[in-house]
Amino acid sequence: MTRLFIQPISRLEGSVHVPGDKSISHRALLLGGLADGDSTIEGLLKGSDCMATFGCLRAMGIAVEEENQRVIVHGRGVHGLQESSHPLDCVRSGTTMRLLAGLLAGQKFNSKLNGDEQLLRRPMRRVADPLNQMGADVRTKNGFAPIEIHGKALNGIQYKMPVSSAQVKSAIVLAGLYAKGETVVHQPGPTRDHTERMLAFMGARIEEDGLTVRVTETEKLLPLSRTNKPVFFIPGDISSAAFIMAAGCLVADAQVCVQRVGVNPTRTGLLDVLAEMGAQVRVDLQGIVHDKGEPVADVTVESSRLKAVSIGGEVVVRMIDEFPMLAVIASQAQGKTIVRNAEELRVKETDRIATVVEELRKLGAKIDATDDGFIVEGSTPLHGGLVNSHGDHRLAMALAIAGLIAKETVVVERAECIGDSFTGFIPLMQSLGAVMHEE
Ligand code: S3P
Repeated sequence: MTRLFIQPISRLEGSVHVPGDKSISHRALLLGGLADGDSTIEGLLKGSDCMATFGCLRAMGIAVEEENQRVIVHGRGVHGLQESSHPLDCVRSGTTMRLLAGLLAGQKFNSKLNGDEQLLRRPMRRVADPLNQMGADVRTKNGFAPIEIHGKALNGIQYKMPVSSAQVKSAIVLAGLYAKGETVVHQPGPTRDHTERMLAFMGARIEEDGLTVRVTETEKLLPLSRTNKPVFFIPGDISSAAFIMAAGCLVADAQVCVQRVGVNPTRTGLLDVLAEMGAQVRVDLQGIVHDKGEPVADVTVESSRLKAVSIGGEVVVRMIDEFPMLAVIASQAQGKTIVRNAEELRVKETDRIATVVEELRKLGAKIDATDDGFIVEGSTPLHGGLVNSHGDHRLAMALAIAGLIAKETVVVERAECIGDSFTGFIPLMQSLGAVMHEE
């Protein structure tokens, strides 16, 4: 167990790159494995969640090589996966488990998906139900993992998702690549669309029309890198950049820039909320990585006087991973911030409504849980203390940023989970002037 010690600081400055986008990295590995040929990828996140996907692919016969900063996935075609000799270990990664459930439902072999205790507590019926409607045989243990999948021939369906979840949508879309006819998914809100963009780039028959996605059975996918585009670039993760952006707003004398961050509109909810709070944020668009690809920008943030906001509806999905950080930001804004319609936070790596409230209160924040969000009283000075990540990477980092502006030292217990999504978080923060170390 690692403890992270964070000292208060008054200055933060510099320009950094954050590691590659976690959601895009998972998809690049999985879809690269289904391509006809090699995909050379730069910027892949090597965090433990993506390494879980990497391990599962290897167990199914997909070779992945590392070459300097690049990774080469040797795709074996849409029908090239092989049965694993042992259960596939998704570790703590919900994305790995749910996307694989979809991908494996229509294979000609059987699979078993397992993971760490934390992952075994997360709901899996949300993927099993629609897949079974497609003719799959996907069995959960009372709605939770381990998941047993007996490969079956699938049929396309029309599915109206009850919750806004990109993992569920992607699972159905991946199964749709193997299903007879057309698979149509209607989402209640705009979830991240990296799977759709990447599959379109690979030549799949897939269309996005507002909140509806249509996909048709596919026999061939082009690699992510080609002769005329020899490297597939993964942009920086906006959900990791969020911690630097928050630190930039909160530290008394700060100017920080995060370069080449992905700003896909399905992910930029925090930028919209920060603008509404009056934050000094500048987004300089740098272009689009590949056709049908991902927009990338340099984001600069300065110390800001913030005001409270009410958050609810569609923007919640577009910033679903940013709420632990938002709670800390709100504790410093003038007025009362209210978050609604965010009940999905209860089924993330932890129940993020409960854990965020419990831990921030230990630092003096005035925050109350509601059924579907929380209410934060702003302009509250934070004091030092001992807090716990509960094994949740985003909570650990949000607490570390709180430590930059607390009056005394903050110590975050169980901080090793930061590496699930943000490799090199501590040295990167130190390069900006933060004073933190682990023991
Ligand atoms: C993800 C989707 C989101 C997000 C998770 C990554 C993805 O989960 O919270 O960190 O890569 O598709 P849900 O689909 O459960 O909302």
